[in-house]
Amino acid sequence: MSKISLAELNHASREQFVAACGPFFEHSPWIAERTWERRPFGSLAELHEKLVETAQLATETQQVNLIAAHPDLVGRLAREGRLTQESTSEQASAGLIGLSATDAAQFDTYNQAYRDKFHFPFVICARENKKAAILAAFPARLNNSRDAEIHTALAEIGKIARLRLLDALTET
Ligand code: GUN
Repeated sequence: MSKISLAELNHASREQFVAACGPFFEHSPWIAERTWERRPFGSLAELHEKLVETAQLATETQQVNLIAAHPDLVGRLAREGRLTQESTSEQASAGLIGLSATDAAQFDTYNQAYRDKFHFPFVICARENKKAAILAAFPARLNNSRDAEIHTALAEIGKIARLRLLDALTET
């Protein structure tokens, strides 16, 4: 897939901008839609910062909807092959494809416990964590408050978006 340059993005219509940057946030094109108004962007880092700011400035309901748009790691959508292209490669990079039945059951138990407590899915940047680190993060994060987890999930979503952005765009 050929990369889009920052200059092209700075001249893009809202529609073109959303087509390019929408997928940086799982099923949440509204972040790119709102951020387009803040063009031009001086660097990819600045573009990322402004996208993340849009998510931070959204209402808590919108933030929770953003978190909820993420699939469970090793969840039903993954087993059924129904993830977005981005999510599929992210779960693969964490080594979460073709797990043993024991590991898969461990994920099921943690995913459910996390959803039961917070009413949204557990989000961690899969490309920055391997299976063992993710399995260790679940029990630690299950101890947190809902506010702390909203904060942590948004930070992880910012990391996910950054890596997707770097895959899709070039600064020059
Ligand atoms: N759910 C939890 N972590 C991730 C991630 O890194 N990417 C995606 N797409 N979904 C997730």
